[in-house]
Amino acid sequence: MKTTNYLSLDTSATKKVSDELQNLLADLQVYYTNLRGFHWNIKGPRFFQLHEAFEEMYDVVSDQIDEVAERILMLGETPFHNFSDYLKKNEIKESGFVSSGDEALKLILDYLKILIAKERNILDLADKANDEGTIALISDYISGQEKTVWMLTSMLS
Ligand SMILES: [Fe+2]
Repeated sequence: MKTTNYLSLDTSATKKVSDELQNLLADLQVYYTNLRGFHWNIKGPRFFQLHEAFEEMYDVVSDQIDEVAERILMLGETPFHNFSDYLKKNEIKESGFVSSGDEALKLILDYLKILIAKERNILDLADKANDEGTIALISDYISGQEKTVWMLTSMLS
C-alpha cells in the first residue's frame, strides 16, 4: 500500500519536494543538537534566561523534525534517521563548544537564515507540485522563525 496512490499528487513533482525535505531534516537535526549544546554550556549573567530560551527553541525544533520526517513518508519516501547521513547533507554545521550568549545568538541567526532560505525553496517546489500539505507545514515554520529572527536581532541590537 502506498500513500501516494491516495493523495492525487504528481509524484515526479513531489519527489523534488521530498528530496529538499530530506535536506531540511538534516539541517534541523544538527540545529537541534547545537541548541542542546548551547542550553548546556552557556555561561554568564544571562544564564537562566538563555538556558530557558534555548530549551524552548529545541523543543520546537524537536517537533519540526518529527513533522518533516512524517511529511517525507506521506510523500512516499523514507526519511533518513542516521546522523552519518545527516552529516553528508547538512548545511548547518556542528557548532562545537559555545559558552558565550552573544556567540550562540549570532550562530542561531545564521542557522535561521539557512533554514528560512531552504524553506522558501521548498514552498516554491511544493507550489509547483500543488502540495498544499507541505505548503501549510513549511509556511508555519517560516512565520515562527521570522519572529525568532526579530527577537534575536532586537536582543543583539
Ligand atoms: Fe535541560
